[in-house]
Amino acid sequence: MDSSEIYWNDRALLEWQVELGATDAILDAPVDRYALEAAKPAPKVAAATEKPAAAPVPTKAPEVDAVALARTAAETAGDLNALSSAMQAFEHCELKKGARSFVFCDGNPAARVMIIGEAPGREEDRAGRPFVGRAGQLLDRMLEAIQMGRAADDAARSVYITNVLPWRPPSNRTPDKDEIAMMLPFLERHVALADPEIVVLMGNTPCQALLGRTGITRMRGNWVDVLGKPCLPMFHPAYLLRNPIAKREAWADLLDLNARLRG
Ligand code: URA
Repeated sequence: MDSSEIYWNDRALLEWQVELGATDAILDAPVDRYALEAAKPAPKVAAATEKPAAAPVPTKAPEVDAVALARTAAETAGDLNALSSAMQAFEHCELKKGARSFVFCDGNPAARVMIIGEAPGREEDRAGRPFVGRAGQLLDRMLEAIQMGRAADDAARSVYITNVLPWRPPSNRTPDKDEIAMMLPFLERHVALADPEIVVLMGNTPCQALLGRTGITRMRGNWVDVLGKPCLPMFHPAYLLRNPIAKREAWADLLDLNARLRG
């Protein structure tokens, strides 16, 4: 094959992998698993007279209660910096291993409104900040429409933003219940330390985490109490990008939020 054929061949292979969903490189170079298999030492065959080796006694790995560990770590954090450090040091969530960045927050920690999303996506994982991709840009425009924003210095006009999970799930899959449960103590502590007046839950994942249920289509627009604070479930901006017709309801929810803030 000449170099141009090699190029187009490699490119076709790469495109095929992307189509299958492999969107991120894990290592710098491919691993030939067949070569590894061939290099393995041949299994030792016991001589006919040799007594069969006693079966190894299975050693049970000590069970770790990751939720309890998270709770202790979260409770000992006295401020947002300490909470961020405690979360970064937490080694029991597998998502940490596959993520590029730890994504903690953005905006003004003194804001009256705290917005909670799901988890970082690809852009957020790259930038280390929540809601910076297309959904984040829509969120910024939604907030601007009620004269609010994450960059505002004035606590009355600013928002504080975080996610249920600080690490990107592979291929942006929905976080599972165990991951949510494990990181929930940190999220609860985050709300307690930021101490906003109002909490906004964007989509099903934060509703699952803090309200214990999903069904955002029915829940959106209905104020509930979360951790002693008024809380408004809303459609996630990524959902609004896929279903622009739902922007009408999102607009009604924003007006309601604005009325509560200025009321
Ligand atoms: N979606 C979220 O829920 N959070 C982000 O930070 C980005 C996209």
